[in-house]
Amino acid sequence: MNAVGIARPRIEGRGKVTGTARYAADVPIPGLLFGSIVLSTVTRGRIRGIDVSAVQDMPGVVGVIDHTSAPCLNPKAQGVFGPDGQLLLLQDAAVPFAGWPVALVVAETLEQAQAAAAALPVTYDEDPHDTAFTADHPAGRPAVTLFDEPVDIGDVEAELAASAVVVEQRYRTPEEHCSAMEPHSATAWWEGERLEAIDSNQGPFTVAAVLATLFSLSPDQVRVRTEHVGGGFGSKGLCGPQLILAALGARRFGRPVRVTLTRAQVFLATAMRPAIDQRVRLGADADGRLRAIWHESAFEISRLAEYLEGCTELTKTLYAASAIRTKLTAVPLDILPPFSMRGPGAAPGSFALESAMDELATRLDLDPLELRLRNEPEVGPASGLPFSSRNLVACLTAGARRFGWDQRDHRPRLRREGALLIGTGLAAASFSAGAFPSSASITAEPDDTFTVAIGATDLGTGARTALTAIAADALAVGIERIHLEISDSALGPAWGAGGSRGTTSWAWAIAEAAAKLREQDYRGTATVDTSRSLGDLPTHERHAFSAVFAEVSANPATGEVRVRRLLGMFAIGQVVNPLTARSQVVGGMIGGLSMALHEEGLRDPVSGRHVNADFAGYHIAAHADVPDIEADFVPDFEPGIPMGIKGAGEIGNVSTAAAIANAVWHATGVRHRSLPIRLDRVLEE
Ligand code: MOS
Repeated sequence: MNAVGIARPRIEGRGKVTGTARYAADVPIPGLLFGSIVLSTVTRGRIRGIDVSAVQDMPGVVGVIDHTSAPCLNPKAQGVFGPDGQLLLLQDAAVPFAGWPVALVVAETLEQAQAAAAALPVTYDEDPHDTAFTADHPAGRPAVTLFDEPVDIGDVEAELAASAVVVEQRYRTPEEHCSAMEPHSATAWWEGERLEAIDSNQGPFTVAAVLATLFSLSPDQVRVRTEHVGGGFGSKGLCGPQLILAALGARRFGRPVRVTLTRAQVFLATAMRPAIDQRVRLGADADGRLRAIWHESAFEISRLAEYLEGCTELTKTLYAASAIRTKLTAVPLDILPPFSMRGPGAAPGSFALESAMDELATRLDLDPLELRLRNEPEVGPASGLPFSSRNLVACLTAGARRFGWDQRDHRPRLRREGALLIGTGLAAASFSAGAFPSSASITAEPDDTFTVAIGATDLGTGARTALTAIAADALAVGIERIHLEISDSALGPAWGAGGSRGTTSWAWAIAEAAAKLREQDYRGTATVDTSRSLGDLPTHERHAFSAVFAEVSANPATGEVRVRRLLGMFAIGQVVNPLTARSQVVGGMIGGLSMALHEEGLRDPVSGRHVNADFAGYHIAAHADVPDIEADFVPDFEPGIPMGIKGAGEIGNVSTAAAIANAVWHATGVRHRSLPIRLDRVLEE
């Protein structure tokens, strides 16, 4: 390989810093109208009336669409995980959560649309609501997810009873919001019975497919383009409200309509991580060998859509134990539908498991690093399947060396610098690797270049740059001969940028198309679809691994915790581009830092509404919060996936919060089992 593995800056980097790269809301469209969404202010009930006449004559107003006037949508449309009521916007008077779109006001300018939306009188008949999540809520029911099936291996009760040391604790994480820098925006227009859209999302093909069903069109009647995306973090994996409403508005008024969410609307109407309450029981022999791991997780969901937070995935991957039991419980509430966010399942799951491992190490009087090394499994602890590659130990030991872990006195509250308490902590992580079906085509052009077309999208991670290198190596030509086309549903079926499976899925398709073109002696066009060739993936445990080390200071007078150092060592298979991959895992670690110390969506139990739907109230790590961060990769190669790659998208996030929480314990002697570790919580302890 000549291009894969070489650090190169982003292909579109110059365009982004000079402002020529266009995001969804930047693209000039002739005849454009602007839509402003009106969100429900009540949490459950029915719309009694919307007085359109009150705003109809305001300057620039073209019209208002509500449930009495909206074009009909097809109720058979489904989301990623099945039936999804949040797709069916403006179809009836029911209000399922606070923040539900109840109307779209369309006007000649954005300001006119927003003014009329703010003035639109909407009245409701309110019903009692339930937004209060508790793990033992009577509505809770067992949840089975595709990626995280419950397991019950061995005799957990007997192993716990036979253990020398047992740790049993509960860990809580709040609602968190994806908060991509670019708000969700879509522009839609109709060309006869064809629907065209420019949208900010994580996968134009899957979004276009949902849109086609919603509007009862064939897939080739819908085209969605997604040129540049300013982050998604999970929240743009759906066919979002901005796109559905823009398409409804364009249909109704016969002109292109652009809908861009405000920051508050991004909080109120797009995906969040659910609130989660986890119970972990670990039993070990006196020498630290695990006998039992019992991990139960309860989380809130919406009644509108099934989305299940797979918190126990790592629990079946990281450590050997004689008995392992996992269980997921979903609690349906009248809330904004949760969806995948930054290491879904694994990020909160690792906070619980890796905090509990740290507690176990303390109880055993054992180095937390040593505890992990002693429980390294030979095969998948729950599946019994071999690991395709497993380099967790390399991450732990290389990281420990670089971080200076052997200098650590494992007793808490011993290091001081002036008034500050100093501590260090570590955590291990895994995130499953794999690929989903994608198509790709490669055309040999007369000028000796190659056009590589794939319906991929680049969220800002460097996907364009990575895929160009992958195509060059797959064709055995220089990168200057590759012309890449992505970001367009018309390029054919492709998995989106999500689940840490974008690059692997696309690389697979590009590699197959390149092989076919080489068989064709580099002539014509080679088109492939990998649906059939992914068959061997389930025969192995496939995961990226990492170890994260953190150093924090805690101020006992103010309760302020600051992260001073973070080091992440990663095994993500063949690193396609060390520059952008490092940036991606550093970004993930910052997300983990933010989860540990800052992020917390707050809901008023009386009204059921979010009370901090902006960046003043919802804190995210800013530059001043981000310390010296180091990230590096250990040698790794995934034998089951072309080019040997695994995903880099989410592993950076996973376990960072646990490493920080463990460091806070080491600094202060106080264990924080609820995130975020706010200064008032530190002071109370
Ligand atoms: Mo990711 S949270 O699968 O976009």
